[in-house]
Amino acid sequence: MSFYKTKSIIEEGDVVVLYFGPQKMHCFEVTHKIVNKKGELVDNVFQTTHGALKIPSLIGKKYGTKVELTRGWAYVLQPTPELWTVTLPHRTQIIYTPDISLIIHLLDLVPGSIVIETGTGSGSLSHSLIRTIRPHGHLHTFDFHKQRVELATAEFKKHGIDEFVTVTHRDVCLEGFGDALKHKVDAVFLDLPHPWLTINHAVDALKESGGKLCSFSPCIEQVQQTCIQLEATGFVDVRTYECLQKELTVVFKNIPKLNLDCLKKKHSVEEVIEKKSAEQDKILTVSHAHSLPGHTGYVTIATLPPLFARITEDDN
Ligand SMILES: C[S@@+](CC[C@H](N)C(=O)[O-])C[C@H]1O[C@@H](n2cnc3c(N)ncnc32)[C@H](O)[C@@H]1O
Repeated sequence: MSFYKTKSIIEEGDVVVLYFGPQKMHCFEVTHKIVNKKGELVDNVFQTTHGALKIPSLIGKKYGTKVELTRGWAYVLQPTPELWTVTLPHRTQIIYTPDISLIIHLLDLVPGSIVIETGTGSGSLSHSLIRTIRPHGHLHTFDFHKQRVELATAEFKKHGIDEFVTVTHRDVCLEGFGDALKHKVDAVFLDLPHPWLTINHAVDALKESGGKLCSFSPCIEQVQQTCIQLEATGFVDVRTYECLQKELTVVFKNIPKLNLDCLKKKHSVEEVIEKKSAEQDKILTVSHAHSLPGHTGYVTIATLPPLFARITEDDN
């Protein structure tokens, strides 16, 4: 039940995050026993580079507790969708938090929204979508990979959020989203190799009063095909964004004072440098990160107007 609501005490069956720092954390289930590689049921001990942790010892402790390991310490945290995204078992490429936040904002999602997502993949985005739309909204997530569907279904149940999500095993390009969702949804999100093949199906699923469609694609050629199809099917306001992070740090820096007299008197370069380095100013400035997170994907957003106001390629 780890994602259902905020808890204070760790219980058996919870999924918890062992947090060493922002770059180093692990997620696991709190159980007394675990099945090892030989198929034997053994005591649940988690091995880290800082030593071993007997997992049952966490039961009854408060979330946020600092736990001692043989060669260090860590905090035990309740997972959030953001922590889950950086610790989840990867079954596919996943969408990360900076793109997720842009997607949720562009889709205008609020508690109560009815949303389609495809493909489910590793469920990274799904956890954030569910947190945004619950308690009255619902996520309908589709994937054509049977094992991914089964694992995601089991994970949502274990995390206590299965009442807010329906996972369906289906090829959405071939079969669409089904009659049950016809004109029922507020927003559609696509993370597929061929998103343009599902846009007609998305039009069928979006409410007659209109809605939003967002597509995430790593390659610009996918974006181009998608945008052409969006406009042909009556979507308007089609825009594509790339979410790049640029981190700045506020720092004090010592810089040489500019000595104008020295420049006027035409001193040699060596003399100027010598005089400059003698006096320094301490100024408040910012420094830029040495390396920046690179390209992840393009986020395309489009609006489907209400039915009476739609103009499609067939009308022209
Ligand atoms: C990149 S993954 C999605 C990752 C997901 N957004 C996340 O954050 O974890 C793409 C998924 O789409 C599924 N997929 C690809 N084509 C599909 C189709 N035609 N119908 C349904 N699912 C499809 C794949 O099986 C894969 O699991």
